[in-house]
Amino acid sequence: MISVRRDRPARARLSALGAYVPDRVVTNADFVARMDTTDEWIFSRTGIRERRYAAEDEATSDLAVRAAQAILDDAGVAAADLDAVIVPTCTPDYLFPSVAALTADRIGARRAAAFDLQAACSGFVYTLAQAASMIESGWADNVLVVGAEKFSNLVNPDDRSTSILFGDGAAGALVTAGDPGSTNGFLGFDLGADGSLGCELLIPVGGTRHPAAKAFEPQDAYLQMNGREVFKFATRAMEETTSRLLDALDMSIGDVDLLVAHQANQRIIDHAVGRLGVDPSKVFNNVEKYGNTSAASIPLALTEARDQGVLAPGMRVLLVGFGAGLTWASTIVSYEP
Ligand code: COA
Repeated sequence: MISVRRDRPARARLSALGAYVPDRVVTNADFVARMDTTDEWIFSRTGIRERRYAAEDEATSDLAVRAAQAILDDAGVAAADLDAVIVPTCTPDYLFPSVAALTADRIGARRAAAFDLQAACSGFVYTLAQAASMIESGWADNVLVVGAEKFSNLVNPDDRSTSILFGDGAAGALVTAGDPGSTNGFLGFDLGADGSLGCELLIPVGGTRHPAAKAFEPQDAYLQMNGREVFKFATRAMEETTSRLLDALDMSIGDVDLLVAHQANQRIIDHAVGRLGVDPSKVFNNVEKYGNTSAASIPLALTEARDQGVLAPGMRVLLVGFGAGLTWASTIVSYEP
């Protein structure tokens, strides 16, 4: 990206959506067949019935490329016109290069800056803030945001308390420069992190603390989670970030047309929705079909909501996420195709 400050200010606009999920469906029955669990246990604790798994030879960037193409098709924008490709992910192909660099190359985004953003399941909303900032400060016109994750290689297949939760997928949005006089766009963001809780959800091996080349216990190369602590954090964080954002905007929950939360667990969402007093008919969920796809989960739900006619242009949508870090993020944005 080569950028020169634009004279004319712009308002960032969420202008297109798109998603890609692998074909392979892994049902609760598939887990029941090989570990001590039941469909009833999984569904009643999580709301998940099935998730998608990528093929052995498919990595995160392969999913990101497919979603990126869907978003560009939806937008009618050429990859050559992108100023930046940002991929929120916590399951990258490699420590480096970034998934974004690999994706930008494969879609032909030759003049785009490309980088990953690591805020785990809060990553999509964090990245929207980054994209909106680049546009509203005058440095970019078209920023592609693609959440992409392949968890199936990073969850311990023998750990019944984590393997059942996660799935693979990619989804995202195009953020573009819009009318500076618009009262729509992104109304605000609340982003945060509490690294003192980082140990509650992590993959211990593979970074500089415990390099992959040194001896380690095989299970330490997989995702590890203190489910109860993460559950408590998630319900609290969802409620607090939403309340802070609404207060800062002098809005009430009734001013929101649609709520799309990070699709980690139906019980977490229901709990927070109840505490916030959201009308359940204004909440869109699809965790039942995809499990937790981390940074891809919010745009995957948004894309489905749009395809099912639930998300209509101009609606004020509250997006709220939480995840490893531990992190949280919320924004209120209108969808303006
Ligand atoms: N099937 C059957 N039993 C299971 C099981 C499974 N798939 N997974 C765990 N159990 C067992 C445990 O071993 C435990 O047995 P024990 O009491 O004999 O030790 C029992 O169920 C209760 O475990 P617990 O961890 O207390 O269950 P829970 O009600 O807290 O539910 C989670 C576990 C993971 C579903 C829940 O903690 C959760 O959803 N946490 C948040 C996870 C999340 O969303 N993370 C991502 C954030 S981005």
